Amino acid sequence: MSAPDSTTAPTWTIGRLLTWTTDFLRDKGYDSPRLDAEVLLASARDCPRIELYTAFAEEPTASVRTAFRELVRRRAEGTPVAYLVGQREFFSLPFVVTPAVLIPRPETELMVVRALDIWKDLLDESACSLADVGTGSGVLAVCCAKHMPTCHVTALDISPAALEVAGQNAVAQAVHDRIEFLESDLLAELPAAKQFDMILSNPPYVATSEMLGLPTEIRDYEPHLALDGGEQGVEVIQRLIPQAAARLRPGGWLLLEVGPSNAALVEQIVARAAGLERRQTINDLAEHPRIVQAQATPAAHPPAGD
Ligand SMILES: C[S@@+](CC[C@H](N)C(=O)[O-])C[C@H]1O[C@@H](n2cnc3c(N)ncnc32)[C@H](O)[C@@H]1O
Repeated sequence: MSAPDSTTAPTWTIGRLLTWTTDFLRDKGYDSPRLDAEVLLASARDCPRIELYTAFAEEPTASVRTAFRELVRRRAEGTPVAYLVGQREFFSLPFVVTPAVLIPRPETELMVVRALDIWKDLLDESACSLADVGTGSGVLAVCCAKHMPTCHVTALDISPAALEVAGQNAVAQAVHDRIEFLESDLLAELPAAKQFDMILSNPPYVATSEMLGLPTEIRDYEPHLALDGGEQGVEVIQRLIPQAAARLRPGGWLLLEVGPSNAALVEQIVARAAGLERRQTINDLAEHPRIVQAQATPAAHPPAGD
């Protein structure tokens, strides 16, 4: 990026900086160059993005221009915007994100919608317990705690750095008193008697062979621990399913986010799992199978004393 220099005419106003950066990022092949430019300039100027629209003619200070130039340079190298600005919106809430966590994706919002439906329609908004396995930035745990006030959430992750980010997000949304964070390989570290009404997980589900084919922005920047699901993409899911079956109360729900290419395989694994009955898979807005569902069978949980 050639330095926008205020000593040469014409002046580098906000409007001109945005136009120049949009063209620059478009030439680099990015999908949303204007949005990226606006988000980065708003971050450098420490203002809401919408405020830029009333300040097109304004000339930013030298320190804002320097900060912006550095952000654009890193964006041009491939760093995702969410990591550059340290934030991403999910389910209309702002979440802190760092390179220790996956950048939350819009399709994952469907998991929250489905969990809310279960809580409202099937659990009658009663007190319930929910686990979010592989919580990452904590989006599922935090949104569920926020929108289901009678729900107690356990958020688990094998990555301590991810749990730290999730903890910050829980505090920011004032739901930290209803979320318990646990460093754990899947459900291994839970107390023996712990059971749940719902277990949600967006686990790593990219097949190792497909990792190389991911866009650079994802492959070189997002944590492989959050993406790589082993040979067929279902290694983590395969281990999780029996553990979840053993931890669900009778009639409890398991919701698994999957990749469209391994949804059928996950459905088969769920259908064969002891103690679970598969339920209808939910498609995302692009009509791809996205949430594989199962319910714990009462038979797997004989009443105490039997
Ligand atoms: C695809 S990310 C999902 C993050 C977040 N739930 C979301 O939807 O944006 C998967 C998460 O699972 C965690 N993870 C991977 N293997 C795990 C394991 N064996 N036990 C617990 N967590 C694991 C990763 O650290 C990562 O945070």
